[in-house]
Amino acid sequence: MKIIRAKDYNDMSRKAANIISAQIIMKSDCVLGLATGSTPIGTYAQLVEWYQKGDLDFSEVTTVNLDEYKGLTKDNEQSYYYFMNDKLFSKVNIDTKRTFLPDGMEPDSDKACRDYNQVIANVGGVDLQLLGLGHNGHIGFNEPGMAFEAQTHCVQLTESTMKANQRFFASMEDVPRQAYTMGIKTIMQAKKILVVVSGADKAAIVKEAFFGAITPQVQASVLQLHNDVTLVADEDALSEVGQWL
Ligand code: F6R
Repeated sequence: MKIIRAKDYNDMSRKAANIISAQIIMKSDCVLGLATGSTPIGTYAQLVEWYQKGDLDFSEVTTVNLDEYKGLTKDNEQSYYYFMNDKLFSKVNIDTKRTFLPDGMEPDSDKACRDYNQVIANVGGVDLQLLGLGHNGHIGFNEPGMAFEAQTHCVQLTESTMKANQRFFASMEDVPRQAYTMGIKTIMQAKKILVVVSGADKAAIVKEAFFGAITPQVQASVLQLHNDVTLVADEDALSEVGQWL
C-alpha cells in the first residue's frame, strides 16, 4: 500500500483529485468507482474546478457508485444519486447515461443486486475505485463481519452507521435502515483503489485497518491484500501510525 501524507483536508482533497485526474488523462474512457460521504466532497469540488478551467474532460468517463440507500427516490436530497449529481455529475461534462448507482427504488433486493453486478460487468470492471473509511472500518456499506466474498448485496445498517448518518436526516426515524452496496469481492476486483481519510476521529481505525490483522471484523483490512492501493490521508488521520511511515 502506498501512503500519501497530506497536511490537512484540503491538501488530501487536492492530492486525491490529482490521482483521479491522472487516471482520466491516462485513460479517457476509464471506469471510476465513486463514493459518497463527507470525505470525498473536497475531492469532487477540486475535480469540478479543474474541469471548469479546461484541464479535465469527463465526456468518455463511466462511473459506478459504491452504494445507495434502499427506498430513497432519486430526488430525495439524502439519496446518493442526488449527492453525486449535486457534487459532480451536474457540474462536469459527464454523460449521465454512463453514471450508475444501485437502484434504491427497486424493492426486490435480489434483483437490484443482480442488476448492479451486471452493470459492473457490462462496463468492464472498475479502473479506479475511490473509497472513504467508516469509523468501524466499513467500506461501502460492508459492515463488520460481512463475508469478504460478497458481491453487491442488501445490508441492514448497523446502529453505529445509522447514528453516523443521522446528521444528514431530520431525525433518526428518517435514516434508512437498508442499503444496496457493492461487496468486498466487487471492490477488490477494481484495478486500482484510492482511499481518502481525514481527521483525528479516524486515526484509530486507520491503524487498525491498514496496520492490524486482516479480518472481516474490520472490512477495510482486506485492502492490505490488494496490490494497487493508495491511501491519501491527512496528518490527523495518520497520527497513530507515524512509526510505520
Ligand atoms: C459512501 C460509503 C461509506 C463512506 C464512509 C465514510 O459511499 O460507502 O463507506 O465512505 O462511511 O464516510 P465519511 O466520508 O462521511 O466519513
